[in-house]
Amino acid sequence: MLTPALQALVAAVEEALGTHPEALETGTGAAAGRVCDEVVPAMEALLATPDAVPAPSRLALGGAAVGNLLHADGAGRFHVLAVVFPEGTSSGVHRHGCWGVIGYLQGGDEETRYRAAKEDGGRAELVEASRHVWHQGDVTVLLPPDEAWHRVRNPGPGTGVSVHVLCRNPADHPHSYWDRATGSVLPFPFVEVAPGRWRAEVSGLPS
Ligand SMILES: [Fe+2]
Repeated sequence: MLTPALQALVAAVEEALGTHPEALETGTGAAAGRVCDEVVPAMEALLATPDAVPAPSRLALGGAAVGNLLHADGAGRFHVLAVVFPEGTSSGVHRHGCWGVIGYLQGGDEETRYRAAKEDGGRAELVEASRHVWHQGDVTVLLPPDEAWHRVRNPGPGTGVSVHVLCRNPADHPHSYWDRATGSVLPFPFVEVAPGRWRAEVSGLPS
């Protein structure tokens, strides 16, 4: 059962996608950008609402980062996660292949964005483009191809929780990992590691 604030967020995403159906084709580009812009106010309203995300959805899993599923669209157009980073944990450098809106609910997250100086044949050269510490109430947007590569790290204190509205369903969300050591771009699919609890797991790393 969604809280009223989450219901309002979901309704805003549904309305934005209804207005800009072309955003569903690639999940990138101008139409996807307009969807993000129209979701931002609803995300801001959610972040300003106490208890918008129930306490169990703000828990890590086994002391590690996890995405707790709050809502999955019945038509597979988007989903909403509460992403939890315990203090000192990091996502690694990764890319979202279609649009997303992130709202910071609790704690602090340092986000580094990267641009691909070069990418071909499953390898990339990434350069740091920006670094920002986000706080409760802040909202950012993911919009490939330019705003897609990033790394999130929780420098503490406390557990960081952010609400992610991401394109497609968790199992279909296009997600890639950058292996800094080799420059390889690897699949980084969301995997349901416990009921309703998702974690991105990199595949193909050299052992
Ligand atoms: Fe991410």
